[in-house]
Amino acid sequence: MTYLITGGAGFIGSNFVKHMLSAYPNSSLVVFDALTYAGNLGTLQNELKEEQVTFVKGDICSKKDTEQVFKDHKIDFVVNFAAESHVDRSIENPQLLDILK
Ligand SMILES: NC(=O)c1ccc[n+]([C@@H]2O[C@H](COP(=O)([O-])OP(=O)(O)OC[C@H]3O[C@@H](n4cnc5c(N)ncnc54)[C@H](O)[C@@H]3O)[C@@H](O)[C@H]2O)c1
Repeated sequence: MTYLITGGAGFIGSNFVKHMLSAYPNSSLVVFDALTYAGNLGTLQNELKEEQVTFVKGDICSKKDTEQVFKDHKIDFVVNFAAESHVDRSIENPQLLDILK
């Protein structure tokens, strides 16, 4: 089974990737993340060396990015952790995602 893990470079997402690799070593994982200020690929340094783990830089708000990842990979499940989790920041600046474009 192939899992698309959106926000997989964040705190919860990267721990989920580690859990999946240890609990379901035969699964394939596509880590999809926009790498905002909160994303850190360093936390997945070892996991990204595994054959069944792929990283894709993309924005879940972008139709183009999301359509492309579904074209390139046969996804069975989507697990979403992509979020603006700093609530104060999201209230102060709801347009923050503009910086991703
Ligand atoms: N951290 C906690 O203790 C906790 C507890 C309960 C629930 N949650 C929930 O889990 C989710 C993830 O939380 P977290 O602490 O891992 O957050 P985080 O900020 O560490 O990670 C979010 C990840 O999403 C990515 N991202 C943001 N916007 C994106 C976009 N448009 N497209 C693609 N990627 C994008 C960021 O680059 C980052 O890697 C949130 O919904 C949060 O509310 C977190």
